[in-house]
Formats: sequence, C-alpha cells, structure tokens
Amino acid sequence: MQQFVRICGTSELPASGAAREIASGDRMLCVANEGGVISVMDNVCPHRGGPLGQGMVEAGKIICPWHAWAFDLKTGAAEHTPLAKVQVYEAKIEGEDVLVKL
Ligand code: FES
Repeated sequence: MQQFVRICGTSELPASGAAREIASGDRMLCVANEGGVISVMDNVCPHRGGPLGQGMVEAGKIICPWHAWAFDLKTGAAEHTPLAKVQVYEAKIEGEDVLVKL
C-alpha cells in the first residue's frame, strides 16, 4: 500500500527554479521546485538512465542533463513522445517535513 513517507525537511528543498536528488531508502528521487510548487518524481531518465535531479527546471519541465529530454513536472510525460514517462509522486508539506506518497 502506498503511504506518505518523509523524504527530507523543507530546508533541504531546492530553491525555486532548481532541482536536486534526494534519497529515500534505496530509491533516488528527483525533487524540483518551480515557483514554490514541489514536484517529486523518479530520478532515472527513461531514455538512458540520466539523473533527472541534476537537470534544469524550465517552463514546467525538468530537463535531463544527459540528452535534454524534457518531462512535465506534473505528469512526468516526455515532451516529444508519449512512449516515455517518468513516475510522479504525490507530495505535500506538513510543518517542516516534505512527505511523498511512495
Ligand atoms: S538519459 Fe535522459 S535524455 Fe538521455
């Protein structure tokens, strides 16, 4: 069953317009912040496994640092093909904790 787990504190979140990698158990997540809206998704790019959390945030998308595929921060859908998608997780902030449904 999916449940909310704490992945980090709010002080560890990336600044607006940025992303970072955050580990939760043995899973690595890409956490992006665009204008204060936090998006959490799998860190592994479905193209060749690039680290999405090391990518750039731009116009509602995370841009993979390896070959620049772009994924929607809300849906995880790739910009150029419906065949590639990243799993996006429901996230919420409670007090100083960032919680994600994993
Ligand atoms: S590994 Fe992400 S675009 Fe190629």
